[in-house]
Amino acid sequence: MSTPTAVDLSVTVGGLRLRNPVMPASGTFAEGLDRVMDFNRLGAIVTKTITRELRTGNPLPRVVERPGSLINAIGIPSKGVAHFIEETLPYYAPYNTPLVVSISAPTAEGFAGLAAELSLPGVAAIEANISCPNIEEDGKAFAMRAETTEKVTRQLRDATKLPLWVKLTPNTGDMPEVARAAEAAGADAVVVANTILSMAIDLKTFKPCLGNIMGGLSGPAIKPIILRHVFQCARAIRIPVIGCGGIATSDDAVEYMLAGASAVQVGTATFVQPAAMTTIIEGLAAFCMHRDIARVAELSGGVVIEEADEPDLAWLNPPT
Ligand SMILES: Cc1cc2nc3c(=O)[nH]c(=O)nc-3n(C[C@H](O)[C@H](O)[C@H](O)COP(=O)(O)O)c2cc1C
Repeated sequence: MSTPTAVDLSVTVGGLRLRNPVMPASGTFAEGLDRVMDFNRLGAIVTKTITRELRTGNPLPRVVERPGSLINAIGIPSKGVAHFIEETLPYYAPYNTPLVVSISAPTAEGFAGLAAELSLPGVAAIEANISCPNIEEDGKAFAMRAETTEKVTRQLRDATKLPLWVKLTPNTGDMPEVARAAEAAGADAVVVANTILSMAIDLKTFKPCLGNIMGGLSGPAIKPIILRHVFQCARAIRIPVIGCGGIATSDDAVEYMLAGASAVQVGTATFVQPAAMTTIIEGLAAFCMHRDIARVAELSGGVVIEEADEPDLAWLNPPT
């Protein structure tokens, strides 16, 4: 199937104009995928999260499958910022697709320093993966609390003029509040979301399946949960929401956009079907053609909600 040309697939997301709303989720995409797809077809390229120093990552095993899902505790192995600047950045330079660089650091200053250092030609935006432990506080992820989200986002904002996307964690009680903090501190978009903290136990050994004991759940099983988070966050803030969680088909992407996402990221699906993203782009165009939708951006926030007496309360506490 070739992409119909009558549909305008372009979207504007957090300071960037993208040819379509589909991009990889950080950590699930790498250079070698150029063997199965033309990177110039993607809306954007999002790199694996990089850290300043070399990091080896977590003990093995790092991945376990569960029905409709994957649990990973990779632990952000990183070749460091120097390798990224010398090798990775030049590799992507020939592509005509915005390069979004995902970064992580254990402190707010560390995040800001890395963002400043990576504000280079060829980098289109910074995605701050603030779902990592904040060692200055109590080791909880920055994005678990509004205050720490606001602090790190403000320092990032001061450190770079590039579009700043902040990737949130669903492992918090109140994502809309955290999203509001990111917006107040100057983020251009939020990514909703990283993986859901989870666990699996091996029934032969009675030991946890992962070397790290706990890991992040991803894949189709998490889609309804993250879709709900996207819906709530999109109503709480004015900056764009990029939806990420269990997207495997173009129908999934449409659902996310209807819930309020301006663009989507595809992660685990790429492990199952390496060309999933290009199939989703084609499917989005076909969906719009069939529904006579001229611009894919029109889907964003298009979910039809019947009027509720107390809509805010109804969204937070749905009847059981
Ligand atoms: C193997 C693996 C590695 C990941 N590495 C990163 C990472 O380096 N940085 C990051 O922000 N998210 C990382 N993630 C999370 C994904 O970017 C994404 O937020 C999550 O998997 C949910 O999307 P999905 O259900 O489409 O996979 C990783 C996920 C997986 C499965």
